[in-house]
Amino acid sequence: MISLTEQWKKHQPSVQIEGDNIVITIGRDIEHPMQEVHLIETVDLLSYTKAWLLRVKTFEFKAEDEPKITFPIDDLKSGTYKVQSRCNLHGTWDDDFVI
Ligand SMILES: [Fe+2]
Repeated sequence: MISLTEQWKKHQPSVQIEGDNIVITIGRDIEHPMQEVHLIETVDLLSYTKAWLLRVKTFEFKAEDEPKITFPIDDLKSGTYKVQSRCNLHGTWDDDFVI
């Protein structure tokens, strides 16, 4: 049986600012598997507004993809964002970040 800590390490999104880009990786310390039977299906990027969370971008993945996204930081306004990754077996995992 896999511990919750190991599940967290495998599913929790990690957001890094690298130069002019935002890099989102799924998994901390342990990269999430990307196989037909077990993969990250989508990553949603949501923006906090005064009243709700507004979906900004959705990234879709196939089994052969790396569980990683890189996009220009200029695509986003400064503010607070939530990134949600969805595993086909283990549900939704999220984290917040500020730029
Ligand atoms: Fe998973």
